[in-house]
Amino acid sequence: MCGIVGVVGNSNATDILIQGLEKLEYRGYDSAGIFVANAGDASLVKSVGRIADLSAKIDENVQGTAGIGHTRWATHGKPTENNAHPHRSETGRFVLVHNGVIENYLEIKENYLEGHHLLGQTDTEIAVHLIGKFVEEEGLSVLEAFKKALHIIEGSYAFALLDSENPDLIYVAKNKSPLLVGLGEGYNMVCSDAMAMIRETNQFMEIHDKELVLVAKDSIEVQDYEGNPVERESYTAELDLSDIGKGTYPYYMLKEIDEQPTVMRKLIQAYTDENNQVVVDPEIIKAVQEADRLYILAAGTSYHAGFATKRMLEELTDTPVELGISSEWGYKMPLLSKKPMFILISQSGETADSRQVLVKANAMGIPSLTVTNVPGSTLSREASYTMLLHAGPEIAVASTKAYTAQIATLAFLAKAVGQANGNEAAKNFDLVHELSIVAQNIESTLSEKDLIDDKVRGLLETTRNAFYIGRGQDYYVAMEASLKLKEISYIQCEGFAAGELKHGTISLIEDGTPVIALLSSDEVLASHTRGNISEVIARGAKVLTIVEENVAKEDDDIVLTQVHPYLSPISMVVPTQLIAYFATLHRGLDVDKPRNLAKSVTVE
Ligand code: AGP
Ligand code: GLU
Repeated sequence: MCGIVGVVGNSNATDILIQGLEKLEYRGYDSAGIFVANAGDASLVKSVGRIADLSAKIDENVQGTAGIGHTRWATHGKPTENNAHPHRSETGRFVLVHNGVIENYLEIKENYLEGHHLLGQTDTEIAVHLIGKFVEEEGLSVLEAFKKALHIIEGSYAFALLDSENPDLIYVAKNKSPLLVGLGEGYNMVCSDAMAMIRETNQFMEIHDKELVLVAKDSIEVQDYEGNPVERESYTAELDLSDIGKGTYPYYMLKEIDEQPTVMRKLIQAYTDENNQVVVDPEIIKAVQEADRLYILAAGTSYHAGFATKRMLEELTDTPVELGISSEWGYKMPLLSKKPMFILISQSGETADSRQVLVKANAMGIPSLTVTNVPGSTLSREASYTMLLHAGPEIAVASTKAYTAQIATLAFLAKAVGQANGNEAAKNFDLVHELSIVAQNIESTLSEKDLIDDKVRGLLETTRNAFYIGRGQDYYVAMEASLKLKEISYIQCEGFAAGELKHGTISLIEDGTPVIALLSSDEVLASHTRGNISEVIARGAKVLTIVEENVAKEDDDIVLTQVHPYLSPISMVVPTQLIAYFATLHRGLDVDKPRNLAKSVTVE
């Protein structure tokens, strides 16, 4: 949520900021701005809309060696030019970008900022006025003023602050929101995500919560809020420019859908040894073995991935699995078992709701495992253990390859624990072989794009609403499929347990209502779902079926080869990802950047 970039000591500052913001745009895209400072002259350019709109406003005079930039996902105040970052202090001397939410901003305004003129409604503007006041009205040094403000400000933030009178230093601090230092040759940078800077460098330095960093062109100084120096090593980010480009694809989402067979194969490599045996960190296996219940906490698609693994985890590890929505559990934990273990699933590893749960779990001494795509992310750092998704950067807001990688990664965990426990089903579950079949199955689905495109055109092009239905694991896939469809095509869509429709919701079915039914290989469930399909057809629904071949009938629309039942959510979801993609294209919408959303949700 929101992207920050900053650079000091490079005469191409404007370019670096804009290119960085383009790479960060997936994190928030309602408005954007940059501030570029150079001796005596300074430029602030802001725009509502996308980075392209901002770029169009920047002329050749906006040049300098230091600057900060921001792409916003509004939390306080509408997406207007005045509310866009960077924000300035009362006199305009200090300039600030911020990611997060300052919870006590109204109290700060009331207690400290009488007589100040604020241009917009953001919480951020209050922070920069506060810092400016401490320097200009109380005579503190910039560092002292920043520290004093940090002691007053409550909430989540990543800040990058520039003093336009002395722009060879960027003042940085963070709490709960992501921010990294990027180390260039003779210049340095800050950014929300390594992707923004990978064109310039692969050397980065983490910033931990409640640390303050002074970023100059040839030095980085990390300290805590009391001013004590902190030692921090840099690290090499294993990212490649080609990973973060669209290549020849029109949209990241399509590229990421297509990458799924490769991701399955990468996971096989990552979690097996040279003898093809499944390998998972023994410490993680032990922690799961010691737990009497596994609690999976996540949000959105990651939450749905949790459901898709529940049956497999329970049957193979002989441990009950409970699911929770992070934003619910962060504040009110239900009664837990005696030896709980928490599994946090998060593509980004930065989701504030999930982090809130982890902070609670840590305080309660509960062991935790983060399953994430981003090594070194907050949730990874703060959990007892991490398993990586190896999916490569996921940039489209709609999550696709992360979902399938999450299920596959947890399959390795289930198999490893089950095998260590001597569970018969786990011993007989040839995961490497089964996952290879899944990879091939996805490849055949991907070769049927034209067919899916065609089916979608007749079904979803103009509809206002739609349903996905299924039973058992297909119900869980229906939940994910409907989230995907609604988040990018804006079609109101419900994922429903097929048998539950008749208990009320079937009253919404009318002539032409699209209902997409999922029927994987379980014959009993499939035959019951067939009954539910007849019920909706009798009430006028237009039905599209996605089925595995052993339960297929002549009139079925999309027929998939059968895979192991534990892994069917992976192969069943792929046609639904393509359905969402084509429906969105047909409706003329931006597939990768749906309205009101952002990729990584770093506010609660
Ligand atoms: C997925 O398409 C969504 N954009 C969203 O639901 C996402 O899965 C959710 O915000 C959780 O993100 P995370 O996996 O990074 O924690
Ligand atoms: N709370 C700030 C705002 O509304 C920052 C939001 C963000 O992280 O983009 O402007």
